[in-house]
Amino acid sequence: MSTPLVSVSYVSTAVDAFDDAALAGLLDQSRASNHDHDLTGMLLYRRGRFFQVLEGPERAVDELMAKIRRDRRHAEVRVLLSEQIDERRFSEWTMGYEPIGVPATPPPEGFRDTFADLESDNDRASIRAVRELTVWFRARTSVGA
Ligand SMILES: Cc1cc2nc3c(=O)[nH]c(=O)nc-3n(C[C@H](O)[C@H](O)[C@H](O)COP(=O)(O)O)c2cc1C
Repeated sequence: MSTPLVSVSYVSTAVDAFDDAALAGLLDQSRASNHDHDLTGMLLYRRGRFFQVLEGPERAVDELMAKIRRDRRHAEVRVLLSEQIDERRFSEWTMGYEPIGVPATPPPEGFRDTFADLESDNDRASIRAVRELTVWFRARTSVGA
């Protein structure tokens, strides 16, 4: 039997704001390591908050989540959704990234609300927000890719 594929989505808060160089460093390191561990996913950073989706073999995802929880560059890691999946949603991205710049790239309409929804205490609302962001990310990054 093959190892189950899982997907974990979480939000967290940067301890010190990440500048472009810090984000680039994090992404370089993450992409190389994710490639080696058969992990894929997406990362958003906006105003000191992270939203990340990680997917891959259960064991690799669990091991990385344990490291991520210990990472002192951010805090308040809160898992919004953890589920088994039949197929990957980010198979082309070792870690897709969208800088939702302030003010360079205005967020898409509804994005702010969607991000706020992510942190809703209402589980159904936050799961819906995760799904919406996933769809948005895939549509956005495939344009002109
Ligand atoms: C918001 C955030 C997202 C991260 N995402 C990843 C990732 O996708 N892949 C990865 O290998 N490390 C990621 N890291 C870094 C890990 O926490 C950790 O520093 C890295 O895996 C190296 O750990 P090691 O030196 O113990 O091997 C992330 C860190 C933060 C703060």
